[in-house]
Amino acid sequence: MPYEKIDVDNIREMVRKFYAEILKDETLSPFFVKALGDDLENGKWPEHFHTLDNFWGLMMSGHKGYMGDPFPAHAFIGPLYRETFEQWLKLFHAVVYEMFVPTIADKFYKKANILAEQFMDNLGINDDDEDDD
Ligand code: HEM
Repeated sequence: MPYEKIDVDNIREMVRKFYAEILKDETLSPFFVKALGDDLENGKWPEHFHTLDNFWGLMMSGHKGYMGDPFPAHAFIGPLYRETFEQWLKLFHAVVYEMFVPTIADKFYKKANILAEQFMDNLGINDDDEDDD
């Protein structure tokens, strides 16, 4: 049964499921393996998960906790293209629509999409003049 409301535990579950999928993806995994290693249980991953739990808590429920700026982490991690972001969004879409009822999954996906567009603007790879919304 998909979750009908968001809470701390299902955000945690979503984050771990999503990055497990990311590490199986041949386009996306190299960026994460390079920055954080390939062992989701150890090294830099637990801290990354903690950051992401807080980030999504803020995005979805307004919970304070994430005080950072998500963009700088993406500025120098290697060549990112529109296709890289599309692949990220595709995996994210699959995970949130599998786990949550559509109204909640829509909200997750909308937020991710806005951020992806912003990141692409900042990276100068957003040559898409149309308003996707
Ligand atoms: C092309 C797609 C993406 C790639 C390859 C990517 C890769 C990464 C990597 C490697 C890190 C870790 C950097 C480090 O700690 O050294 C990171 C951090 C992060 N990413 Fe992404 N990312 C992508 C898209 C996104 C999107 C669309 C979002 C938002 C919805 C996002 C949110 C974050 C956040 C919140 C952090 C933590 C930033 C911090 O430490 O404060 N990422 N990403």
